[in-house]
Amino acid sequence: MLVGRKALLKALTPLLALVMASPALAQDAATTAIVMFDSVCLTCHEGECSGRMALRTERGSEGLAGHVAGYVGRQDEVMVSRLKGLMSQLKTECRLPPPPVALPADGIWDGASLAPLTLADRQRLFVPLGPLNPGTHSTSLRQDEPQRLRLQVVADSFDIVFDQDSTVGPTGTRIHWQVEEPGQYFLRIIGRRPVGTLRISP
Ligand code: HEC
Repeated sequence: MLVGRKALLKALTPLLALVMASPALAQDAATTAIVMFDSVCLTCHEGECSGRMALRTERGSEGLAGHVAGYVGRQDEVMVSRLKGLMSQLKTECRLPPPPVALPADGIWDGASLAPLTLADRQRLFVPLGPLNPGTHSTSLRQDEPQRLRLQVVADSFDIVFDQDSTVGPTGTRIHWQVEEPGQYFLRIIGRRPVGTLRISP
């Protein structure tokens, strides 16, 4: 049994390496839809589940495709319907859908692990920070070319507990925020031009 598992791992290793080396393969469409939804759509639609902004479904899918294109560029029908599905799910669950990726074991996000969490235009990223308990938390961001980024820490209950423009460069920038409600938290990164290769560490 153990030998069988080892042999399987051995057989899978080249495949895993291939998947990790190829952002296009690793970035499956479901993850992309969630990252798009959390990083772009929810900046306006976070009030949807509270009924502050009622979801109107009478608009046809072409109308929705046009609406979506205005914020994330032209998307195919499958992506538009995924986004629509996420919007209906939001209404009933009242929780931000987490991107389905594992937190890195060492807590460090690098170019490869951030690839599926980065939109194609590289101007938005949505990164899980994990479950956080009440208290002060911090994280550090670094990239080669200094760039001004808008950084937001968002709870899955949509509360924004940190929202600030910071210059992130090779010396690194540490941000601190307070958590009052325990829960899942995320870092929304917004660039005005494509964001470089970030390293995010505890
Ligand atoms: C800048 C704010 C903003 C952003 C960003 C935004 N929306 Fe909207 N959206 C609105 C407003 C306002 C309405 C309601 C008015 C209307 O129906 O035109 C709306 C309506 C909708 C509706 C209502 C249903 C319908 O067919 O009328 C859906 C679904 C929707 N948006 C999905 C999305 C998705 C998916 C994204 C992300 C790609 C997104 N929105 C991004 C502001 C925004």
